[in-house]
Amino acid sequence: MPWIYRWVIGLGLIAAVGVLYFSNVYLTTSFTQTLRAQAELRAALYAGNIKSTLERFAVVPTLLARDATLITALSTNNYASTSQRLQSFQEETGATSVFLIDLTGRVVAASDRLMLGENRSNTEFFSQMLRTQGTIFAADTSPEGSTRFYYGQKIELLGTIMGTIVVEVGLSRSEDLWRRSDVRVSLADVQGVVMLATDIFWRSQNMATIIESARKPSTAQRVFGLLQQIPLSELVYIDGERFIVSEAPLGFRGWKLSYFAAMDGVDARVNAVIALEIMGMAIFAALVFYQISRRAAKESRRSYRESAELRALNARLSSEVEQRLHAERSLQSAEQSLEQASKLAALGQMSAAVSHELNQPLAAMRTYLAGAKLLVKRNRLEEAQASFQRVDDLIERMGAITKQLRSHARKAGDSAQLIDMRDCVSDALSIMAPRLGRQAVTLIQNLPPSSAQVMGDGQRVGQVIVNLISNALDAVAKVTEPRITVTLTLGDVIVLRVEDNGYGIENPESVFEPFYTTKKPGEGVGLGLAISAGIAREMGGRLIARNGVPLGAVFELQLPRADGANKAAE
Ligand SMILES: Nc1ncnc2c1ncn2[C@@H]1O[C@H](COP(=O)(O)OP(=O)(O)OP(=O)(O)O)[C@@H](O)[C@H]1O
Ligand SMILES: [Mg+2]
Repeated sequence: MPWIYRWVIGLGLIAAVGVLYFSNVYLTTSFTQTLRAQAELRAALYAGNIKSTLERFAVVPTLLARDATLITALSTNNYASTSQRLQSFQEETGATSVFLIDLTGRVVAASDRLMLGENRSNTEFFSQMLRTQGTIFAADTSPEGSTRFYYGQKIELLGTIMGTIVVEVGLSRSEDLWRRSDVRVSLADVQGVVMLATDIFWRSQNMATIIESARKPSTAQRVFGLLQQIPLSELVYIDGERFIVSEAPLGFRGWKLSYFAAMDGVDARVNAVIALEIMGMAIFAALVFYQISRRAAKESRRSYRESAELRALNARLSSEVEQRLHAERSLQSAEQSLEQASKLAALGQMSAAVSHELNQPLAAMRTYLAGAKLLVKRNRLEEAQASFQRVDDLIERMGAITKQLRSHARKAGDSAQLIDMRDCVSDALSIMAPRLGRQAVTLIQNLPPSSAQVMGDGQRVGQVIVNLISNALDAVAKVTEPRITVTLTLGDVIVLRVEDNGYGIENPESVFEPFYTTKKPGEGVGLGLAISAGIAREMGGRLIARNGVPLGAVFELQLPRADGANKAAE
């Protein structure tokens, strides 16, 4: 994968995490604010509700204290229909119960007939009612923790206290209502002691203590809160759930209502939004990956195509190489046949030159012979003998030409055998001895002490050496201190070098061409080097020519060495 994709993916991941984190913080904060406002509203609502309920019943005792039937019943001590009357009052007002107490503290009439006969004389509330002018309120918490709320007032007739009337206010109905609506609410008095609560274990306990002990989050909750950046002091933890507490004063005896709003609603909403975000990101990532993989597939298709093209190119190339090799081979064979053809052409040229070369002495011979015939007829024998001698010379010359031609036409490899080049040199020099004796030339020989063996025909190698030395002799003919050096060196290749200090080679590229000569007619036909080069080639070697430094010519006959190993192989 290209590095740019890695970067894009890495940055995308970081961006995604950032977006999730910040949206989590933002959403949690804003939803929490909404929840807090809702909680405050609810708390105020519930508080107002309770307050109005309480206030509604505050006037009921005052009204009942003036009720004539109740006063009559108290004064006559006849309560036959009083309880029924109280029951109808209870039903009309919606109070929990209404009951009448006489001066002795005994319940003489009650909407709830079970209460009849109960003695309330030694309760603080009863004596307070007797002492006080007007309605008084009391909240009475039972040992089990449930609290009852009462309004009561003494009943007087012409300044005489007849008894008391008590109305019990049913706040437990509100409590039930809260419980049913699945909210957590508590109502505490001015000391903070819980009187009503959806959680029954809170009753009679101090609200401040409850909240204090519920403020301790677990480590996980602390980390979670830190991540969401909610002020931890705002939250309370009850049964593993998080709540925001909102307190509303009732405006009644310093009472306070606490409303607990659950954070899980906020969490659920935040989680829903974050889940949506993650889904969106996943879809986006899937699209991006799809795009990337499509591009990669395209790329791989292209590279496959390219490599296929490369393979095809390679195949074409190797077939071309094959063709070239083939062409080279056919060229070689063509060259070989061309060589053969040029050899034949050279033969043709040569025969033309030879016939020209031979025709001259033949014509001369005819003339000499005709002259000799006449001289013999006239008996001038001395002169005729001279003519015959000339004919003899001409024949010798013709013989030389045909001899050279014969050696040129001879087939190669006829009599190949191991020969020592040193013997060839000395044979050639002995053949050349008469001419060397005529021409005063310094001949230097550098021959190795050990044998220099090659495979070939000794006579033909000797012919090459004779040709080279006779050319050298021609070249040094007009030099003041003529010198010819023959050197034989041993190596993988055996080299015979013939150097002279003559006039040098005029045209080194052409000297091996048949019939190339710079000599006058009769002095040279231009075959010596052509034939010699052919012999060298036939033996697997070569003949090369160059000009010497500072003057003269250098000819080198290079032949492959036939050593002991070759001999053994044979
Ligand atoms: N040692 C040399 N120095 C200078 N030129 C040379 C020497 N050897 C050969 N040449 C040149 O090369 C030519 C060809 O020599 P090549 O031996 O083939 O023929 P040629 O000597 O002219 O005649 P022939 O057939 O009788 O040998 C010569 O005519 C001469 O010009
Ligand atoms: Mg020659």
